[in-house]
Amino acid sequence: MRIGSGPAAVNGDESREKPLESKPLREGAVSRLIRKPEDLPARDIQLHTNVDKVMEETMMKKKEIFLSVCFVFLIGFSANLTLAGKHGEIKPQKEAILLVAFGTTVPEARKAFDQIESQVKGVFPGVEVRWAFTSSIVRKKLLEQGVKLEPPTVALARLLEDGFNRVVVASFHTIPGEEFHDLYKDVDAFRNMSGSHHRRILVARPLLSSRKHMEAAIDAMLEQTPKSRKPGDAILLMGHGSENQPADALYAALNFYAQGKDSNLYIATVEGQPTLDDVLPKLKKNGVKKVYLMPFMAVAGDHARNDMCGDEKDSWKSILTHDGFKVECVMKGTAENPEIVNLWIDNIVAAHSHFK
Ligand code: CO
Repeated sequence: MRIGSGPAAVNGDESREKPLESKPLREGAVSRLIRKPEDLPARDIQLHTNVDKVMEETMMKKKEIFLSVCFVFLIGFSANLTLAGKHGEIKPQKEAILLVAFGTTVPEARKAFDQIESQVKGVFPGVEVRWAFTSSIVRKKLLEQGVKLEPPTVALARLLEDGFNRVVVASFHTIPGEEFHDLYKDVDAFRNMSGSHHRRILVARPLLSSRKHMEAAIDAMLEQTPKSRKPGDAILLMGHGSENQPADALYAALNFYAQGKDSNLYIATVEGQPTLDDVLPKLKKNGVKKVYLMPFMAVAGDHARNDMCGDEKDSWKSILTHDGFKVECVMKGTAENPEIVNLWIDNIVAAHSHFK
């Protein structure tokens, strides 16, 4: 079996395909990977990444985070730095949950965030809940409209400055792909900073974290399918995909469980595997007449509006229509599905349980 499926592999040009590096782990890197058992959920995700690359990028991120911390002080917060408490001082446990999303400029999509926040607060009464947004483009656009949003590094620095020493960072990612790893590296840099023995910062797992979560996610998607669906109509979910991450294989796993529940339910991705080309022959073989298209991403954003259901001739809707299928688009992100939000919350609960 071939590992790696970049453009070079697709074109069949083996010479341009980079081999996976397998340098021995440095001593420091090994000791950093072997944490306390309670850190397991976070640790085994890190093991999937290239350790040397992570360490190098962590050093760069440390600089960026240092600047974030300075920034928080500069904008007028008290200089009473909680990370640098007196020696031996036992600090009271102060818990917070930092919810992290890509962000959106669509006001209606913001409603999904409000819904998530109230679901999270319902499960964690009295725990501080804050938001951070990873997309600098979204943050910039909203700043022009007078809405100030923070990236995870700044929000985390501010939480620590405000004395929170038990923090769960929870993102609305579907798999531990490219974006999740970037967030993980940012958080890990905070954990490696001096004074870190005073605090614990854990990253909750993304949505598809177990067979149980995959099956429940499929049930939730079946549930949100319009009641007009007739026997023999197919459902095709558009996942994002993460071409260069091993976790991309979770979409194939999701397909496996989906077919077990409904033989006409499929998942394909825009930027990973499987693709629409993998699903098309199956739709034809099964004599499908109509296909319901639904995004399997937190927000029904750009990919859903353009790549899935846009009018351009290479959108999934256009390709399927051209091949003789009737198409109906359901423009609802998974963050708008309370059952799926409950699965993310389940992962926050699992991370939070390590603080007890
Ligand atoms: Co994308």
